[in-house]
Amino acid sequence: MSRDVTVGPLSGLLDGVAQRLDSGEASICVVRCGDSVYAIDDVCSHEDYSLSVGEVDVEECAIECWKHGSLFSLVTGAPLTFPATRPGATYEVTIESDQVVVHLLDDATTGDGAA
Ligand code: FES
Repeated sequence: MSRDVTVGPLSGLLDGVAQRLDSGEASICVVRCGDSVYAIDDVCSHEDYSLSVGEVDVEECAIECWKHGSLFSLVTGAPLTFPATRPGATYEVTIESDQVVVHLLDDATTGDGAA
Protein backbone atom coordinates (compact mmCIF):
# COMPACT_ATOMS: atom_id res chain seq x y z
CA MET A 1 0.00 0.00 0.00
CA SER A 2 1.31 3.46 -0.80
CA ARG A 3 0.54 6.98 0.22
CA ASP A 4 1.50 10.04 -1.79
CA VAL A 5 2.75 13.15 -0.05
CA THR A 6 3.18 16.41 -1.95
CA VAL A 7 6.29 18.29 -0.89
CA GLY A 8 5.65 21.43 -2.96
CA PRO A 9 6.97 22.98 -6.17
CA LEU A 10 10.34 21.86 -7.47
CA SER A 11 11.47 25.49 -7.50
CA GLY A 12 10.90 25.57 -3.72
CA LEU A 13 13.63 23.00 -3.12
CA LEU A 14 17.11 24.45 -2.98
CA ASP A 15 19.79 22.40 -4.66
CA GLY A 16 21.82 20.51 -2.06
CA VAL A 17 19.70 21.50 0.92
CA ALA A 18 17.94 18.70 2.78
CA GLN A 19 14.37 19.20 3.91
CA ARG A 20 12.58 17.11 6.51
CA LEU A 21 9.11 15.94 5.63
CA ASP A 22 6.91 14.66 8.45
CA SER A 23 3.86 12.72 7.40
CA GLY A 24 2.07 10.58 9.92
CA GLU A 25 4.63 8.30 11.51
CA ALA A 26 7.10 8.78 8.67
CA SER A 27 9.94 11.28 8.73
CA ILE A 28 11.55 11.59 5.34
CA CYS A 29 14.62 13.50 4.25
CA VAL A 30 14.00 15.11 0.84
CA VAL A 31 16.96 16.39 -1.16
CA ARG A 32 17.27 18.04 -4.53
CA CYS A 33 20.46 17.29 -6.46
CA GLY A 34 20.33 19.28 -9.67
CA ASP A 35 17.21 18.30 -11.58
CA SER A 36 16.62 15.17 -9.50
CA VAL A 37 14.92 14.83 -6.13
CA TYR A 38 15.53 11.99 -3.69
CA ALA A 39 13.82 10.81 -0.55
CA ILE A 40 15.42 8.70 2.19
CA ASP A 41 14.34 7.81 5.71
CA ASP A 42 15.22 10.76 7.91
CA VAL A 43 16.38 8.54 10.75
CA CYS A 44 19.99 7.43 10.39
CA SER A 45 20.37 3.65 10.24
CA HIS A 46 23.23 3.81 12.73
CA GLU A 47 21.48 5.58 15.59
CA ASP A 48 18.38 7.65 16.07
CA TYR A 49 19.49 10.97 14.61
CA SER A 50 18.03 13.07 11.82
CA LEU A 51 19.77 12.95 8.45
CA SER A 52 18.07 16.09 7.18
CA VAL A 53 20.29 18.34 9.30
CA GLY A 54 23.34 16.81 7.66
CA GLU A 55 25.42 18.20 4.84
CA VAL A 56 24.62 17.24 1.25
CA ASP A 57 27.29 16.35 -1.29
CA VAL A 58 25.53 17.23 -4.54
CA GLU A 59 28.24 15.79 -6.80
CA GLU A 60 28.18 12.43 -4.99
CA CYS A 61 24.42 12.69 -4.50
CA ALA A 62 24.89 11.75 -0.86
CA ILE A 63 24.13 13.08 2.61
CA GLU A 64 26.40 13.00 5.64
CA CYS A 65 24.95 12.17 9.03
CA TRP A 66 25.91 15.03 11.32
CA LYS A 67 26.31 12.83 14.38
CA HIS A 68 29.06 10.35 13.42
CA GLY A 69 29.74 11.23 9.81
CA SER A 70 28.42 8.29 7.83
CA LEU A 71 27.76 9.23 4.23
CA PHE A 72 24.61 7.79 2.64
CA SER A 73 23.85 7.51 -1.05
CA LEU A 74 20.64 9.36 -1.79
CA VAL A 75 20.18 7.13 -4.83
CA THR A 76 20.30 3.74 -3.11
CA GLY A 77 20.27 4.57 0.61
CA ALA A 78 23.49 2.59 1.04
CA PRO A 79 25.99 3.77 3.61
CA LEU A 80 29.18 4.79 1.82
CA THR A 81 31.26 5.22 4.97
CA PHE A 82 31.29 3.85 8.52
CA PRO A 83 30.08 3.65 11.22
CA ALA A 84 26.67 2.97 9.62
CA THR A 85 26.48 -0.43 7.92
CA ARG A 86 22.79 -0.71 7.06
CA PRO A 87 21.07 1.20 4.24
CA GLY A 88 18.36 3.75 4.80
CA ALA A 89 15.05 3.15 3.07
CA THR A 90 14.50 5.20 -0.04
CA TYR A 91 11.22 6.27 -1.59
CA GLU A 92 10.05 6.89 -5.12
CA VAL A 93 9.79 10.57 -6.01
CA THR A 94 7.92 11.97 -8.99
CA ILE A 95 7.39 15.48 -10.27
CA GLU A 96 3.84 16.08 -11.39
CA SER A 97 2.96 19.50 -12.85
CA ASP A 98 6.05 20.93 -11.08
CA GLN A 99 4.91 19.45 -7.75
CA VAL A 100 7.33 17.10 -6.01
CA VAL A 101 5.51 14.02 -4.75
CA VAL A 102 7.01 11.37 -2.46
CA HIS A 103 5.40 7.96 -2.68
CA LEU A 104 5.53 6.38 0.76
CA LEU A 105 5.22 2.63 0.91
CA ASP A 106 4.42 0.47 3.89
CA ASP A 107 7.49 -1.52 2.89
CA ALA A 108 10.03 1.11 1.90
CA THR A 109 12.57 -0.17 -0.56
CA THR A 110 16.15 0.59 -1.29
CA GLY A 111 16.91 1.56 -4.82
CA ASP A 112 16.85 4.40 -7.26
CA GLY A 113 13.59 6.24 -6.78
CA ALA A 114 14.65 9.65 -7.96
CA ALA A 115 12.49 11.95 -10.02
S1 FES B 1 23.93 8.41 14.07
FE1 FES B 1 24.32 8.61 11.95
S2 FES B 1 26.32 7.83 11.71
FE2 FES B 1 25.89 7.56 13.82
